[in-house]
Amino acid sequence: MSKSKEVVSSAIPASVEPVRIAVIGCGYVGLVAAVCFAEIGHSVICIDSDAEKIECLQQGRIPIHEPWLEELLRSQNPTSLRFSTSLADAVRASQVVFIAVGTPPLESGDADLSYVEAVAVEIARSIDSYKVVVEKSTVPVYTSDWIARVLRRNGVRPGEADIVSNPEFLREGTAVTDFLYPDRIIIGTCSDRAFRIMERIYRPLIDGSYSRRPSAVTLFSNETRQATLLRTSAKSAELIKHASNAFLAMKISFINSVANLCEQVNANVEEVARGIGLDRRIGSQFLRPGLGYGGSCFPKDIKAFYSIGEQMGAELTLLREVERINERQRDHFLRKVRSTLWNLRGKHLAVLGLAFKGGTDDIRESPALSLVKSLIGEGATITAFDPAAMANARRAIVSPRLELAESALQAMDGADALLILTDWPEFASLDLSEVKARLAQPIVFDGRNLYHPAVMAERGFTYVSIGRAAVEAATEPSELHSAATPYRVA
Ligand code: UGA
Repeated sequence: MSKSKEVVSSAIPASVEPVRIAVIGCGYVGLVAAVCFAEIGHSVICIDSDAEKIECLQQGRIPIHEPWLEELLRSQNPTSLRFSTSLADAVRASQVVFIAVGTPPLESGDADLSYVEAVAVEIARSIDSYKVVVEKSTVPVYTSDWIARVLRRNGVRPGEADIVSNPEFLREGTAVTDFLYPDRIIIGTCSDRAFRIMERIYRPLIDGSYSRRPSAVTLFSNETRQATLLRTSAKSAELIKHASNAFLAMKISFINSVANLCEQVNANVEEVARGIGLDRRIGSQFLRPGLGYGGSCFPKDIKAFYSIGEQMGAELTLLREVERINERQRDHFLRKVRSTLWNLRGKHLAVLGLAFKGGTDDIRESPALSLVKSLIGEGATITAFDPAAMANARRAIVSPRLELAESALQAMDGADALLILTDWPEFASLDLSEVKARLAQPIVFDGRNLYHPAVMAERGFTYVSIGRAAVEAATEPSELHSAATPYRVA
């Protein structure tokens, strides 16, 4: 990506027909959508019931760690992007209302749609002219029907509002570029009128005119993406979102299963994944083995998708296995740590990474955090470092056995072993001599395969990774690995 930090919004290009947009919900999806709609030339009001959050946004501060978001927010002028707590005013001032409120999981695994319903009721009460009401939150199939029903029950007359399902496919850490350079834009609606307005909103991304602006946020130079606009029914659009996340999660569980087999037969999962991914029908993405998927989306969406299938009499049994493999992956890693270090009680471990993946401060359903909790539970003391997620981790784990370091290297001082649990790019380029000098024992458990086993052995480490044979430092006493160690040592 390249763009000057001094972002100054250019005048709206002639090709853009500005649309007045309200975005309800300043969470991840809502905030990114609001800022990016303003960036491509529309006039946006972003609403949240949390007055503190709104105040913070009005001052140009972003409550989440997301590259580009703060720069873009600050580059907008007050007519292109405003923040408010008044949903009614925003609805009246807008042609299109995006619902982007949270849909957290209920105990049953279903999505809690009560916020969506509450917002739909408020929208209905505020409507004074034709509106397009768009569901942007991740919701189960039939939600658009329910929104239509709620609007009707609350006095909205036929023809006064159309419903659109327009799911979001952005990833945390690359949300802004994912939004501005999407693979596809799904517009699910039976209304031609609503479709035309939605097409107008996204036109700068579909015809490539946004990317040609001198001030545009750009992708890495050699990457090109052509957005496909796909019109579907609202129900199909709702299913596309859940099915996409389920499919990606399935790829991850698949490669993690293959990784486990690789360990048993002394093959290398990185080679296997590359060989599989070169088949264009399969593709190389989301075949990175590791500690299993986490985050605020996959775990919750898999459960919700399974649940809706069950309720509709079309049980997606495959997803149960995807989940099971994912959960087992952390235990499997923990067993490797135990079988290499023997007892964990009293051991001092350095941990790099607490976020659910690199590039974010989000610790929701983080495999790294869950492993840290397990290690502490088994009596180890941890010194951890994460470039962005430490404040969140500190709130999530209150234990005298967890210390936070100021740098990756500092976390390693005197530790019995190093565990790499999150794939931050900076963890892939550590000064290995320094790592070795700081650790009490040159033992590295790499849950993200950031290093090459042969290189690690050559540099004097015992190195245990995913789906590849563990290697032992040539200089290390041979009795370290007991006969019980189930991993082949190269
Ligand atoms: C995911 C989807 O990728 C987005 O398309 C979707 O819009 C979003 O959920 C959502 O529903 O809102 P995100 O949760 O931000 O995005 O993160 P991903 O990059 O997809 O990673 C999810 C998890 O899978 C992470 O824990 C990551 O470490 C893991 N992962 C990913 C792997 O273990 N291996 C891989 O090859 C890829």
